[in-house]
Amino acid sequence: MENYIHIIGCLRGRKIVLGVSGGIAAYKAAALARELGRMGADVHVALTEAGARFVSALTFQALSGHRVWTSLWDGSAENGMPHIALGRGADAILVAPASADIIARLAHGRADDLLTALCLARDCPLFLAPAMNRQMWENPATQRNVATLRADGVIILGPDEGGQACGETGPGRMLEPGALCEALLAFFTPRLLAGRKVVVTAGPTFEAIDPVRGITNSSSGKMGYAIAAACARSGAETVLVSGPVALPAPAGVRRIEAASALRMRDEVLAVLPGADVFIAVAAVADYRPAQTAGHKLKKSGQPMRLELVPNPDILAEVAARPDAPFCVGFAAESQELDAYAENKRRAKRLPMLVGNLLADSVGGDDNTVVIYDDAGRHPLPRAPKALVARQIVEHLARLLPAG
Ligand code: C5P
Repeated sequence: MENYIHIIGCLRGRKIVLGVSGGIAAYKAAALARELGRMGADVHVALTEAGARFVSALTFQALSGHRVWTSLWDGSAENGMPHIALGRGADAILVAPASADIIARLAHGRADDLLTALCLARDCPLFLAPAMNRQMWENPATQRNVATLRADGVIILGPDEGGQACGETGPGRMLEPGALCEALLAFFTPRLLAGRKVVVTAGPTFEAIDPVRGITNSSSGKMGYAIAAACARSGAETVLVSGPVALPAPAGVRRIEAASALRMRDEVLAVLPGADVFIAVAAVADYRPAQTAGHKLKKSGQPMRLELVPNPDILAEVAARPDAPFCVGFAAESQELDAYAENKRRAKRLPMLVGNLLADSVGGDDNTVVIYDDAGRHPLPRAPKALVARQIVEHLARLLPAG
């Protein structure tokens, strides 16, 4: 979930009504309420009677910062009608967990408690995150109800497969809070890159000296992964060619692992056909050992020489192709950012380059960058990498020739 907690922007200020129905997964709804709040959403919780048996209203009140709604007959609501007051101005309703019972009641347009009445009276998208025992999920009645809801335009998120609270294994686990946040975020992110194919490189490379040793650098891959995630959320078919990093593949992104610069180059060239955009974020090693020993090198007590040969410049090679996609470079410098970054942009003939000072970025969760293009320099405020990535995507979408 760490990947998502700092993402603000497209959920900021959105009014999200979180419906919590009865199921053991209700405990995860507490984390979900918190994460949505941290992403800037204005979270209001509607708890069913059964949901309140698992997690108390007080928990959701503390996490959302708002009173929790439980009853259709709560006269303190505006107009005395909580099902109308709560839904007014809502950007989305997310029912998580959505039990088999609430799915059945929603499919039939019932309005016999606050949450179902609220869903029936809504004029915003409805998301359901089913959570139930696998046999309840697989039962034809539930499948019929889900199909009906889908046909009505309701968005069904999950369920996942795996171990269940009842001890069985199969489909019916509620998606994790991070995945649900991601789905909402993707829904609210403008599809600036719809219909586009984007190839991104990320992470360090590892240039082997022998089977266990090599030359690498301290790139964490976080910026490249954030860019790939932002592209996918913006509707692009996104391929991420990644050096060795300890990050999960972002949702909706096809990841190809490539440890060395040579391998990364081959993988990039293989996926490049049809790409509209190439974003080179990887910290590719400039040199590699001239030879890689087949066996582990032994120490001898003598000085040792390692001959290095230059690696291909993947970005320069792609940008020089006659059919080059729109190419975006990155430059991490330790000083004189403007001069070095602009030189690099010109030397590699790039329409856009993102520069940052090493001290501002490497390994951390935040970044301070400057975008360089033909119109000049555009500094972005210091922000979490996910938000910086979103702004970079917005900038490139503005410069991208019409598809
Ligand atoms: O290493 P340098 O500062 O020239 O890197 C600038 C840009 O070129 C970055 O976008 C990086 O991903 C890319 N690059 C590359 N292949 C290399 C070296 C750099 O694609 N061998």
